[in-house]
Amino acid sequence: MKILVTGGAGFIGSHTCVELLNGGYEIAVLDNLCNSNIKSLERVKEITGKTFNFYNVDLLDYEATDKVFKNEKFDAVIHFAGLKAVGESVEKPLLYYHNNITGTLNLLDIMRKNGVFNIVFSSSATVYGSPKSLPIKEDFPLSTTNPYGSTKLMIEGILNDLYKADNRFSVTILRYFNPIGAHESGKIGEDPKGIPNNLMPYIQQVAIGKLPILSVFGNKYPTKDGTGVRDYIHVVDLSVAHVKAVEKKSGQPGVYVYNVGTGNGYSVLEMVKAFEKASGKEVKYKICPNRPGDIAACYADASKAEEELDWTAKFGLEEMCRDGWNWQKNNPNGYED
Ligand code: NAD
Ligand code: UFG
Repeated sequence: MKILVTGGAGFIGSHTCVELLNGGYEIAVLDNLCNSNIKSLERVKEITGKTFNFYNVDLLDYEATDKVFKNEKFDAVIHFAGLKAVGESVEKPLLYYHNNITGTLNLLDIMRKNGVFNIVFSSSATVYGSPKSLPIKEDFPLSTTNPYGSTKLMIEGILNDLYKADNRFSVTILRYFNPIGAHESGKIGEDPKGIPNNLMPYIQQVAIGKLPILSVFGNKYPTKDGTGVRDYIHVVDLSVAHVKAVEKKSGQPGVYVYNVGTGNGYSVLEMVKAFEKASGKEVKYKICPNRPGDIAACYADASKAEEELDWTAKFGLEEMCRDGWNWQKNNPNGYED
């Protein structure tokens, strides 16, 4: 089976390429490298000892994307390509809507024209807005608070409408919780451009001495210690969920939606402590005001993925911190080293 991985040079995409290749799948990667480095794919080849084609193509370029499908015959697409920074999406909504929505519309039209009907899409727990209760199940009400989240919700709607109109499609929507960690080899990991927005890359850069201190956004939330609670998931576990989705759902027309999380919620301060333990480094922090738009707590009920995809997270917090630290310490400047 041959899979096209859009956004395959990115954080989650590169880890998924490793799991696909190790699982015996053939792959090709399409990425315009707007938020990634070609070196991630060289490392994927090193880790797996396998090779594949890379297309430096923007999904907004319809002709170039179509050519990729004319060049190789794919059985399925895993669609990671998109912009993902919440704050930037508020400042540049048109960029986000254009890149994420138009890019996906092009991809879906080209898939249909070329007879490729299996797709796995990267959605996000952000589509649950501020959940009324926890843990979150897939049938909870959906809403968003920023343009990035709206692109995810709109694309979910587009995929549902597409299946209604053409029931040859098999659509699997994976709603990720908070992916962290890195491949155990320490060769691939998250390489954010500039100052990280997300908690774990920020903690990692404080631990390595690139950033002086972590700002903890709020300590008066109604949570165990007042700081925000999230469902952190090892990026390798998340990647395996994509392999399972391709394996179980390709050729099974329908729309399938799954939470991909561990079901455990950890607070910001628990993450700081766990990372200090794994790295042996101090992570200095100060308490700051809440970050606008943040919710108090978010964690998954992931039982549907267990029942239907035969998938559960295998790694715990210790492994997530260990592997994140291993990547950071071997690559203090990411792929630029
Ligand atoms: P990433 O930025 O590392 O990877 C996305 C990749 O898509 C990058 O390599 C980028 O260059 C590429 N890309 C963007 N626009 C493109 C376009 N128009 N044409 C071709 N390539 C394009 O991000 P990631 O963390 O690996 O996330 C992958 C997907 O998962 C994204 O869709 C993201 O929104 C979603 N997601 C991520 C998280 C998270 O916390 N990391 C959580 C939920 C959902
Ligand atoms: N936090 C800090 N300091 C920081 C960064 C984060 O205290 O410097 C806190 C946040 O307030 C929150 C927690 O750490 O309580 C996690 O924040 P992240 O930014 O790492 O993650 P979010 O849950 O806010 O959002 C992430 C992705 C979204 C995605 C969502 C759900 O950024 O794109 O997970 O998947 F939608």
